Amino acid sequence: MIHTEFVLPVYATKILDKTYQHKAPSNIALVKYWGKKENQIPANPSVSFTLTKSYTETSVKLFPKKNTTTYSFDFYFENKLNESFRAKIHAYFERIAVYLPFLSEFHFEIRSENSFPHSSGIASSASGMAALSICLMQIERDFCPEISDDFFWKKASFLARLGSGSACRSMLSDLVVWGEHTDIQGSSNLYGIPYPDKVHSVFAQYQDTILLIDKGQKQVSSSQGHNLMHGHPFAKERFEQAHSNISKLKKALHQGDIESFIQIIESEALTLHAMMLTSLPYFILMKPNTLSVIERIWRFRKETKIPVCFTLDAGANVHLLYPKQYEEEGITFIKRELVAFCENGEYICDEVGATL
Ligand code: DP6
Repeated sequence: MIHTEFVLPVYATKILDKTYQHKAPSNIALVKYWGKKENQIPANPSVSFTLTKSYTETSVKLFPKKNTTTYSFDFYFENKLNESFRAKIHAYFERIAVYLPFLSEFHFEIRSENSFPHSSGIASSASGMAALSICLMQIERDFCPEISDDFFWKKASFLARLGSGSACRSMLSDLVVWGEHTDIQGSSNLYGIPYPDKVHSVFAQYQDTILLIDKGQKQVSSSQGHNLMHGHPFAKERFEQAHSNISKLKKALHQGDIESFIQIIESEALTLHAMMLTSLPYFILMKPNTLSVIERIWRFRKETKIPVCFTLDAGANVHLLYPKQYEEEGITFIKRELVAFCENGEYICDEVGATL
């Protein structure tokens, strides 16, 4: 299905002698997207924190087209020509070409690099697809200067979603919602929106320390995992639970109710992995050290009453979340008790913040 509101009627195709460049941040979901319908429509709404220190920076330069292939581009990752992403970018161009007709008119030199080590086990598809989509929108804006900022960001998020679902949340604001939800005004399955409701100041600059438990390649990709939600015995209940967790989260965010926040966030993380454990074929992405870290977090929280909690993405790494006011205690705890469970003792100190 083509969403005609994102197809602009007039198009010039002159070469623009400019390099387009943008940074897009990583995000960590509080309420998880796991399961999708056709055309990257999420099976349930999700909400994420935007991170400030983990990001992808991408540049795109236009050249006259070199050959007759439909899409012509070179992709450089960390300054080296990279063929392994070629198929993914080609598929992405194919999917979005109806919305950006200039894609078949030029040769593109795309250069991308991450602020975090490539081998950290942190997925860069969200920040990478978001950064590329924003660059493509900058080009579109040069062809059609009359487009509004509102249209620019809506379409950037719309395009990013077509590259990777969670990428549509890697822009816009420090808290982003993607997927229709009755309690979130303006929410859409087609793009992310800045979280529109009031958020208590305790959540400002919330700390996210990413504990790198396992930096290896995952055995099951997110795409495969999403697919396994089709016909999953608990899918219906899971999708309903995500809706209800967003309503609960909205209240907790408004009131600064960290206790409820923790309960929702940890339950979401464990449910995500419970879906993996109960898929057919079933799979486990957590590692023994993931569980050891979770146990330590629970013990520390009980003993000290400091509200540290965790979330997980589709992998073994643990995101330790805590309020800015406990930054010092958080780091001391990590160094004393958690670093031993991290691969080569590595972790990344990040925090929640607006887009770069
Ligand atoms: C567990 O966005 O990576 O991180 O749309 O297939 O590219 P695709 O999937 P992706 O899935 C992210 C899953 C998650 C939860 C989340 O970020 O909401």
